[in-house]
Amino acid sequence: MGQGRRVVLFPYPLQGHINPMLQLANILHTKGFSITMIHTNYNSLNSSHYPQFTFHSIFDGVSETEASKLDTIDLIALINLRCETPFKDCLAKLLSDNSEEPIACLISDPTFHFVQGVTDTLHLPKFVLRTSGVLSFLAFAAFPLLRERGYLPIQDSHLEEAVPELPPLQVKELPVIDARDPDAFYQLVSGIVNEGKTSSGIIWNSIEELETLALATLHQDFSIPMFPIGPFHKYFPAASSSSSSLLAQDQTCISWLNRQQPKSVVYVSFGSIAAISDTEFLEIAWGLAYSKQPFLWVIRPGLIHGSEWLEPLPKGFLDNVGGKGHIVKWAPQLEVLAHPAVGAFWTHNGWNSTLESICEGIPMICMPFFTDQKVNAKYVTHVWRVGLKVGNMGLERGDVERTIRKIMVENEGMEIRERMLNLKEKVNVCLKQGGSSHQALERLVSYILHLH
Ligand code: UDX
Repeated sequence: MGQGRRVVLFPYPLQGHINPMLQLANILHTKGFSITMIHTNYNSLNSSHYPQFTFHSIFDGVSETEASKLDTIDLIALINLRCETPFKDCLAKLLSDNSEEPIACLISDPTFHFVQGVTDTLHLPKFVLRTSGVLSFLAFAAFPLLRERGYLPIQDSHLEEAVPELPPLQVKELPVIDARDPDAFYQLVSGIVNEGKTSSGIIWNSIEELETLALATLHQDFSIPMFPIGPFHKYFPAASSSSSSLLAQDQTCISWLNRQQPKSVVYVSFGSIAAISDTEFLEIAWGLAYSKQPFLWVIRPGLIHGSEWLEPLPKGFLDNVGGKGHIVKWAPQLEVLAHPAVGAFWTHNGWNSTLESICEGIPMICMPFFTDQKVNAKYVTHVWRVGLKVGNMGLERGDVERTIRKIMVENEGMEIRERMLNLKEKVNVCLKQGGSSHQALERLVSYILHLH
């Protein structure tokens, strides 16, 4: 095993992409591969947390200030533009360095859309790690068809219509985003699909049992090998995400949770990118207060448009809820979800958060913002039926209060919890000997070892 083989990984520098790529690096390392990471200086990785890996930084020149002025799509386009040449130079240098172990392949994030061109030129096999689910990727792959058939761009009068090409999605759940430049978004999506299609295989932080139908369709539509080997974070049960976290995780959450009743707390977090208006923020705050349930709320700096941090929070709010609320800038999410006091997760349904919640058996309150989050929320509410959607008609405190109470104390919530526990069991079996992800990982390892 391993035979001195080296794998180079190239994570996309956003939190939801960095975590799974570093987890994959750990998984491959335990399988005997040596690991080299190429990373950008924007959202640079902390190499001191991974002494077992070799790190090479490339200079993209993207500063925090520059990034903060761009929307997500423009930022992704800029990073792509700035990284191509330094990445190519770095990889070429690594390949020509005979003092190191030979490189078996590159594993990149398809959000970098120039990589296949580089590896073709350098004659290096390339895999992609897709950090979101399979169904949202199928939807991306169908964008040209969906545009031809008039589903995209989305028109308000068609929101409730089904999209028969992509069951079970409705038009309103197609993975789009309100971008300043819609064409830049379509280009990004086409780049992601193309990087996947032309690769030697796609690695998924997903699970056969969760996405059976989507994976079957994927196998029909794409002729390359697929490796659904998730959930990555469960390979190392004791692991935390603190080593790959870009923001410091506030550990006061855990001592606060220790003082709460079992399954009583609503954990609220909308991931690393989504943002809300101050009106929405206040509806969330009052909805939480009215629900009378304890809550742990992650408010990252920048979550509220136009505010540094907590300025719009009414004075004395936390005192008024009588110690029932705890607010932090960033939480140790894996530890929080695994804590016995947590009873529900109000989430934006980023793919990592969705998987992390399932693995701990925590029912979800779903509030997707954009792209794959909308697809993931549909899975949660209508396919796996382990959560409820909030804010269907716009975010309103009364609706928030009712939804929280439904999931925490009413019969509907009990049924959801039961289904969630069954799903958790099903998913956690996949990593065991003979389980679907376990087998897919064995296939991946053998595939990489026989590339040359
Ligand atoms: C982005 C996209 O928004 C998402 O749709 C896509 O699926 C992946 O990339 P993000 O919005 O950050 O990701 O959400 P998510 O995928 O849930 O990833 C967030 C990660 O940050 C999770 O691994 C979570 O455990 C971690 N996290 C989040 C923390 O460690 N602390 C927190 O307080 C919040």
